Amino acid sequence: MEKSSELQKIENFLKTDENIEINSKNFEKIMFIYKVAIKEIENKLDILKQESKIFYDNDLIDHINTRIKAPESITTKMKNKGLEYTYKEMIENINDIAGIRVICPLKKNVYSIRNLITNLPGIKILKEKDYIANPKKSGYSSYHMIIEVPVALSQNLVYVKVEIQIRTLAMDFWASIEHKMKYKPNKNITKANSKELIQCAKIINKLDNKMMLINN
Ligand code: GTP
Ligand code: MG
Repeated sequence: MEKSSELQKIENFLKTDENIEINSKNFEKIMFIYKVAIKEIENKLDILKQESKIFYDNDLIDHINTRIKAPESITTKMKNKGLEYTYKEMIENINDIAGIRVICPLKKNVYSIRNLITNLPGIKILKEKDYIANPKKSGYSSYHMIIEVPVALSQNLVYVKVEIQIRTLAMDFWASIEHKMKYKPNKNITKANSKELIQCAKIINKLDNKMMLINN
């Protein structure tokens, strides 16, 4: 596989691939670049949200959430993946340092947003996972994209990876609660409760389909 332009340019920018030191100056610089990438995409999505409303009287997006992965979460993930603690390994392998979540009213909006993102100038699509067409075993449903965003700094143009999760309000309702109960803390919830959660996900899916029919 060819080395991503993103990595080479960030490496040039930083002139280093030294070990990660949390709170070190270089870590702050890298996180700054990820934050700019989030801003760029968030701004574009916000324009799409307003455009759909003003021009087409259509609410394509309910709201947008963003987050930068916490340093501890980055290092934990690197450890779990057996990666060396270098910036190079981090940039190449951790795809969700910059995260954007787009919450839509209806299921069909999710695919409209996906298409609009795909057509944004300068953006590269690295990976897509349609957990709506193919929900996870847990019942989790969302559309995931890993994209590369050009970030223009005064001296450099760098490409930065951003993870986008697109889902409906109903999917978000399920995922937020399930995340607290099960996914994040890796809690051992009972098999029965796991089954109940999967059942809830199925009900949510029916609800989403019904809402779309009513809307049509
Ligand atoms: P990581 O889970 O981030 O290591 O990467 P992956 O390559 O397995 O990515 P995937 O696209 O499957 O999931 C990435 C993100 O989706 C997670 O960090 C969660 O935010 C969300 N997610 C995935 N599965 C679940 C799930 O079962 N429940 C909930 N609530 N969220 C999930
Ligand atoms: Mg993640």
